Amino acid sequence: MKIFIDTANLEEIKEANSLGLVDGVTTNPSLIAKEGKGFREIIDEICAIVNGPVSVEAVSTGSAALVKEAREITRIHPNIVVKIPLTWDGLKATKQLSGEGIKVNMTLVFSPNQALLAAKAGAFYVSPFVGRLDDCSHDGMELVEQILTIYDNYEFATEVIVASIRNPLHVLDAALMGADIATMPFSVMKQLVKHPLTDVGIERFLADWKKVPKK
Ligand code: G3P
Repeated sequence: MKIFIDTANLEEIKEANSLGLVDGVTTNPSLIAKEGKGFREIIDEICAIVNGPVSVEAVSTGSAALVKEAREITRIHPNIVVKIPLTWDGLKATKQLSGEGIKVNMTLVFSPNQALLAAKAGAFYVSPFVGRLDDCSHDGMELVEQILTIYDNYEFATEVIVASIRNPLHVLDAALMGADIATMPFSVMKQLVKHPLTDVGIERFLADWKKVPKK
């Protein structure tokens, strides 16, 4: 499973990338707004740090405007993938853009039928938002399982990015289900490393090592 980092924070991206953990980056307008810097400055820097796909969201409304904006965004850097919301206009734009060879990540996906349509429109990636579904008492990972089954049934090439990840169990389930990618906040990436028995083990080894004559 590929791991993407879901942030626009350059320090987090640099730190995770230095461990070789980052296969790609996903951003959205809210994540970019949090950084208090210019859009272009942030995207340029992310593309300079990471050698992999960088998802950047188009914010236009209407299919023609989405297509125009997507073309402009992808001119910034060859690794950019355009995020387009799963709406009627979004699907129309995705069909057009995928025909032009532009990679689209269809975002804000909350149902298996939406994901089916994304694949048929030629989306390169689809992003089911599991945490937001969990937040309203729907099982987000069940949606991922359904999408994987549908894509497998019909051999769609669209890759599934498990998005809106909130905890390590989302990551574990994504890997067990065979999702293509999990995109996660830096905080969740750090949680994946932690195990209390590792910490206790280190403490014990260090304590015992003190008892060993050093020559
Ligand atoms: O990748 C989508 C993600 O950014 C949404 O996450 O936590 O705002 O639901 P969240």
